[in-house]
Amino acid sequence: MTATSTKPLSELLAQTEFSDDDIVRLLGLTDPEECEALRQRAFDVTTEKTGNNVYLRGLIEVSNICTANCRYCGIRKDNHTVERYTLTEESIVACALHALKEGYGSIAIQAGERRDPKWIAWISRLLERIHKETVCEELPTGLGVTLSLGEQTYEVYKEWAEASGNPTGLRYLLRIESSNPRLFAELHSTPGKHEKILEHRYQALRDLRRAGYQVGTGVMIGLPGQTLEDLMRDIRTFGEMGADMIGMGPYITSNGADMTALGMMEKRPLMQLALNMISTTRLVMPDINIAAATALETLEPNGRVRGIRHGCNVIMPNITPQTTRASYQLYDNKAGTEVGPESNVLVERNIVEMTGRTLGLNLLGSSRRWAARTA
Ligand code: 5AD
Repeated sequence: MTATSTKPLSELLAQTEFSDDDIVRLLGLTDPEECEALRQRAFDVTTEKTGNNVYLRGLIEVSNICTANCRYCGIRKDNHTVERYTLTEESIVACALHALKEGYGSIAIQAGERRDPKWIAWISRLLERIHKETVCEELPTGLGVTLSLGEQTYEVYKEWAEASGNPTGLRYLLRIESSNPRLFAELHSTPGKHEKILEHRYQALRDLRRAGYQVGTGVMIGLPGQTLEDLMRDIRTFGEMGADMIGMGPYITSNGADMTALGMMEKRPLMQLALNMISTTRLVMPDINIAAATALETLEPNGRVRGIRHGCNVIMPNITPQTTRASYQLYDNKAGTEVGPESNVLVERNIVEMTGRTLGLNLLGSSRRWAARTA
């Protein structure tokens, strides 16, 4: 055994710098007491570095039309069993106004990947409207907006940032899915016009940064063939990119996807691995925003509560109109497709307060790392 692996866990957890071996060890913890020690440390670091608030991003799944064929995803282009939809501009603006009224402070606009000029112009118009209609006393720059619309060019990112009326505060989520080039290639090995290349993803993330965005990325956890070393490299990659925000969750098989036959990890160890990944990322990058992914909730009824208790400080309740939710099935049994009409802020408050945190109402909740790097 090496010196690193015999170091008492309490000593390791008190560190502020972590070696690759330290990270692998934290990710692989299985003993309940040790997992709890990691969780507690991550929760405390979150409190110390980001405060006690958990911020809301009301998630609007604006369209499931997609030109990509990512092998893990239920709404990939070649899944012809999906009924495709795009919400109307009116209904999206109505969702945004609902979010504003409920005190969400910010929304996330997500869709399948499209790069045609009509789509790009439509998103610009939508962003202009949302900005214009949500500027108010409480939110002088309007509702915070996070875009999750895939790989685009620098020019498109720039156009959207301008259209948002908040060009240095717009946020964008673009997961790298895995920093292991072999794994990334396997996940996206669908040759053709829209083939995915990891280097393009990194370029897009650099372009987002240059275009003034708060930049978020993330990976799927528990992918077939993924090792603890891979996840450690993922965390290192987040650091090297200077990510402001991270959203990541467990990989769950999807019937409409192309790699269902490869199976997935068992629920309990998968949940623990996902939580260890969240806590370890928090220890390595203390001042970023980390979102508790919907996929956590799909694995376990109180998944998001556990996510917050392990170091997340953002939740993204689905505020998409009920009628289309079932068509945005990224993976099987996605949580929240069947629940009530619109997400209710009181439900979210309950979730957050169960963890001892407070809900950050009417706040943008920008990443502290972003605030520090742009100060
Ligand atoms: N399991 C878990 N997460 C998935 N995503 C897509 N398909 C799956 C799946 N089968 C995630 C990807 C993508 C985000 C929008 O949803 O990480 O970036």
